[in-house]
Amino acid sequence: MVRKPDYQNSDVPKWASVDAYFSQKLAPEDTALRTTLASNAEAGMPTHDVSAVQGKFLALLVNLSQAKRVLEIGTLGGYSTIWMARALPPNGSITTIEVDPERAKVAAKNCEMAQCSDKVDIRTGAATEVLPQLQGPYDLIFIDADKPNNPTYLEWALKLARPGTVIVGDNVVRGGAVVDEDSQDGSVRGVRAFIDMLSTNECLESTAMQTVGEKGWDGMTISIVKS
Ligand code: DHB
Ligand code: MG
Repeated sequence: MVRKPDYQNSDVPKWASVDAYFSQKLAPEDTALRTTLASNAEAGMPTHDVSAVQGKFLALLVNLSQAKRVLEIGTLGGYSTIWMARALPPNGSITTIEVDPERAKVAAKNCEMAQCSDKVDIRTGAATEVLPQLQGPYDLIFIDADKPNNPTYLEWALKLARPGTVIVGDNVVRGGAVVDEDSQDGSVRGVRAFIDMLSTNECLESTAMQTVGEKGWDGMTISIVKS
């Protein structure tokens, strides 16, 4: 059975208002984060940023893992970058890769506005070109770029990791389409191959969490590198 993506689900407005409630109470956005979303919209970017509560979740993962070096694959306008950069200790840094030079420029401006440029190193170029130039190990790696390339990004993440590194993969539910084993959608296929790799790699311990909220029905994987 092919399930249709459920973004039109009648509960979506309710999910969004619960997100707004939790965000207001637990993950408030300051002017810089709000302006970042406005700048991204003005630049015509897709609204693929994480939500505020997801941004706070990533920030907490940075804190929980005591990460000093973070790698993000897929900057977009830097919204998640800012959440994670702000969670870093004073000597921490985040390297973030963006394929689109215009988006990278907007992201750089956003990081400046959010007063975290000193911690953010934006690398412009295809991740497959940039990743071989990087020096590990990173303490936390957030994979959030073009989904068909997820398997390649995971291979690189493993090369740039150490035992204890946390690897997070965004958008692994795709409105439920992830369960369609015959899907011809490149993103679904990329995510399914990524999940297979997480499942079979003996150096990784992983789980996946579905989420609902202002971004509809989606979810993230979380893995730790064992050895
Ligand atoms: C898509 C990608 C994202 O990174 C995201 O957060 C939401 C959707 C997409 O490719 O559809
Ligand atoms: Mg994403």
